Amino acid sequence: MTSTQTQLAIIGGTGLTQLDGLEITHRQVLDTPYGAISAPILHGHYHGCAVAFLARHGAGHTIPPHKINYRANLWALKSLGINTIIAAAAVGGIHPQMQVGDLVIPHQLIDYTWSREHTFFSDFNSPTEQMNHLKHIDFSSPYCERLRRYLLDAAKSLPFTVHAQGVYGATQGPRLETIAEINRMERDGCDLVGMTGMPEAALARELELCYATCAVVANPAAGRGNNSEISMSDIEMALELGMSRLRALFTAVLTA
Ligand code: HPA
Repeated sequence: MTSTQTQLAIIGGTGLTQLDGLEITHRQVLDTPYGAISAPILHGHYHGCAVAFLARHGAGHTIPPHKINYRANLWALKSLGINTIIAAAAVGGIHPQMQVGDLVIPHQLIDYTWSREHTFFSDFNSPTEQMNHLKHIDFSSPYCERLRRYLLDAAKSLPFTVHAQGVYGATQGPRLETIAEINRMERDGCDLVGMTGMPEAALARELELCYATCAVVANPAAGRGNNSEISMSDIEMALELGMSRLRALFTAVLTA
């Protein structure tokens, strides 16, 4: 990952609004043809590698999943020359093996979100000339396989579970799901449920960015745990462990 061709950004999600250990050289506030980005982009060095960091929900975690300006965020990163994005995401575990605290590098997704600005190819008066020519991107494999392999190779040295695949179901939020919705998602083949995986992954593909997600299981999805309710305090506790594991994965990736 230290190749000079790799211009890496990390998008942080719930539990990762800042990247501890990032030696920040400058902060960049950016406006884009699609509007404002979630937070200033932090540029710096992380384990000696140049990394840009963007907090998806804003620096103070104030932007809910359905209000995130995904187009602005990805456009801004692309315009800075970023070509590789590792996206952190807190998720609920649906598959019985996806336990709280586990990391998962999903290989597929199903999109249940609605009414989000989900494409750069919305109209022929796009604010950006190159997006005026409609392209139906191939999305058979929604994540960058090269980056997934890189993450999984680095994860081999780590003393905790990193699942090599999983189907991520993206829901609208901000509420959590009903048990019936999770049952349906399981029947559909989803292993994980989160609220921010789409349209982020598709927009990254439209911009020809190499994009992969590192999901952190924060809770058993609705109806899957021993408790009848999912509590925010349980999620926050689980995320502390999960995020420390995620940082260990980042360290392994950047020092590989
Ligand atoms: N559902 C949706 N998104 C989530 C969950 C969940 O159970 N946990 C963390 N993000």
